[in-house]
Amino acid sequence: MQLERLLQSQGFGSRKVCRALIRAEAVSVRGQPCDDPFLECDPEGLEFSVDGQPWRYREKAYLMLHKPTGYECSRAPRDHPGVLSLLPSPLLTRGVQPVGRLDEDTTGLLLLSDDGVFIHNLIAPKRKVAKVYEVHAKHPMADEQLAALRTGVLLHDATEPVAASACERISERVFLLTVTEGRYHQVKRMVAAAGNRVEDLRRVQVGGLKLPDDLPAGEWRWLETADLARLADG
Ligand code: URA
Repeated sequence: MQLERLLQSQGFGSRKVCRALIRAEAVSVRGQPCDDPFLECDPEGLEFSVDGQPWRYREKAYLMLHKPTGYECSRAPRDHPGVLSLLPSPLLTRGVQPVGRLDEDTTGLLLLSDDGVFIHNLIAPKRKVAKVYEVHAKHPMADEQLAALRTGVLLHDATEPVAASACERISERVFLLTVTEGRYHQVKRMVAAAGNRVEDLRRVQVGGLKLPDDLPAGEWRWLETADLARLADG
């Protein structure tokens, strides 16, 4: 693949823009400055840099973000900044978008990708991908309330009860709740239906992939092959 096309595929702009970047000596390939836009490169795993920023060629982008509070997942955020503003611009140019949504005040593991099939497979209800939330309740969680979440609670607009696939107490007010659907405000509404209230909500796991302890709020990282395998394992 020609270098200018490779950069274009990675979100650095049109071919014309990428050609200008290369000609302006802003690009290095495997550590060597390169001013030839037509250099033929094998894209597989290619390491390059643009304006000193290191990148690796990825046919599709898969990443995780530790979503902080105060950010909206919508592509056209209204009242708060959007999560996409936490990513470098090439990722936005290549069409990376959140996999499902977390509320503005929910924190934790948010996946993003430019692979439509990957996104669909994670959010399609029939796939039943497990999402684990750490829930901090306003009032002490009674055993009966946890039991109600396990057996099923009736949400306001629903005709069928919805049940957690797992619900594990951590402390008096904190518990882990696993759900496989992704309905609007689902966890908050389930907890309300069980007779309590969510004060703080954090997603800690999707499928078998956990939010890493060393990923600070507001930071993102690429999903590597082992992470993608864990996701499918859940
Ligand atoms: N359930 C909610 O209520 N809010 C979220 O952000 C995610 C799941």
